[in-house]
This record gives sequence, structure tokens and C-alpha cells, in this order.
Amino acid sequence: PRHFLSTCYMSRAEILDILNVAEKLRKENHRFTRQLFVANLFFEPSTRTKMSFQVAEKKLGLESLDFHMDLSSVTKGESLYDTAKTYEAIGADMLVVRHQDDNWYEKLQSGISIPIINAGAGKSEHPTQCMLDLLTIYQEFGAFDGLNVVIAGDIRHSRVARSNAAALTTMGANVYLAAAPGFEDLQLNYPYVSMDEATEMCDVLMLLRIQHERHEHVASNLSIYLKEYGLTNQREATMKDHAIIMHPAPVNRGVEIEDELVECKRSRIFKQMENGVYARMAIITKLLKEWGNA
Ligand code: CP
Repeated sequence: PRHFLSTCYMSRAEILDILNVAEKLRKENHRFTRQLFVANLFFEPSTRTKMSFQVAEKKLGLESLDFHMDLSSVTKGESLYDTAKTYEAIGADMLVVRHQDDNWYEKLQSGISIPIINAGAGKSEHPTQCMLDLLTIYQEFGAFDGLNVVIAGDIRHSRVARSNAAALTTMGANVYLAAAPGFEDLQLNYPYVSMDEATEMCDVLMLLRIQHERHEHVASNLSIYLKEYGLTNQREATMKDHAIIMHPAPVNRGVEIEDELVECKRSRIFKQMENGVYARMAIITKLLKEWGNA
């Protein structure tokens, strides 16, 4: 069995299976009858991912083991690896991990014998966010082939962009990127469009947060950013009737998107958060079954 660490290795069938299971769990809950413990090890702050994992675990009848880095033995120098080994030894049946290193899971994969879910790895991958994003698009359009999806914003520092670009390509969507100068990532081999082109051509506009915490220099003029590179009311007015706006959140209101557009008719931002619970329920269920726990 495999861990759930990256979207790069996922096939179209695997992704569709998760989306269909998530849809099923949205309509009809399933609870595990055995006592199973899931440890949520967040080494970086989180509201949505951590809380939706907790809700997903509770809905599935699982016991969540919490972890507070500042109150843990990490403060005495214990590593992620030894923390994970400790939770495994104590009886965790699954680990959910978020950590600031791009490759934190490489060491854990070989030494840990319970399934691991990547809840965010530095600037590299956020595969559970990707599944909830795809679920939101799937609910809206019923398919991915030929959809124009523009991922716009701070591409260079975004793990969401990487996970989504790979999975959307696998699913047959046309992926484009839009970024302000300095926010591009030329290692990602997708065509770049301007923000004006993006809003006119897209079926899905996936906005990204400016990740100040990952920047060496804080962007100097954020009010200019919205006008030049963000989603203004003027640009939103050029979008196709059926086009939707997405954002993984947290949102810098008034920076990458006009404040009032966060809750506009075509925004699916809070729908994405709701879908996070079902996508994570599906991923947990799949892993526990594959690892022989169900
Ligand atoms: N989208 C997302 O990962 O949000 P959190 O950082 O609040 O979990």
C-alpha cells in the first residue's frame, strides 16, 4: 500500500475514485466500527486543513490524537521522524502531517509502517487541498477534459499550484499560470497568461494567496498588486457566465481579490472548505482500507 503524499503519481482512475467516494460520503456517512487513532501532526499553522481533518475523522468514527508543537517534545529538540515514530509506537493507526520542509516525507516513508497523509509540505505539495479543489470543479462541471483552468498569483511559493497543476493535467484540463513579475516559477512547464487574458479565457480561476511568510522580502506595495495582478471587479465582469472563482484560503482580502468578490455568486471559496471534509474523509477511508484497517 502507498501513503498519500503527492499528486504527481496519481492516475486519472485513482483521482476519480477519490472524487466519487467523496461524493458518496457527502450524501451518506460511513463509520468505522473498530477503534482507530489518527494523529494530526501540524508543524505549521492551519485552520481549514487541521479542522476539516478533525471533522472528517469524527464523522468516520475515528479518534483524533492532537499535537501542539509548542507544548510537545519538539521544543526539546525531538525531530519530526522521532515524533512520528512515537505516535506510531503509542498506537496511532494513521498520521496526518504538515511541515515546512519541501521533502519532509522522504525519511518518514521508509521508517514508518502506518499510512501517512501529506497535509502540506513546504512549497512542494498540498495533495489533499488538490482533491477538494478537484471535487469542487467536478461538482460544477462533471468532467475536466478541455476545461481552461488558470492558476493565478504567488506561483513560486505555492504548494497548491504544484499539486493542482499536476492533477488537473492528468485529468485532461488545460492548465495556465498567471503571476506578477518575481512570482513565476519557470520549473513549472505551463503557459503563462496575463491576468486580463486569464479572466476572459478561464472556466476556473484559481487564485493563490501571497505567501508573505515564505518571502525573503515583504512585497512593498500591496494596493498596486490588486490593480495590476489581482481579481478586480472590472476583471470579474469579463469572465464567462459559467466561470467560477476558487482560492484555497486564507484570503488576503483586497490584495489578490477584491474584498466583496470573496463571497460573490461565482465564488466557490467556502464551498471548497466544505468539500475539504468530504475529500479528506475519502482519502482517509481509501488509505485505511488499502492498509488493511477496515
Ligand atoms: N488552505 C489551507 O491549507 O488552509 P490552512 O492553512 O488554514 O489549513
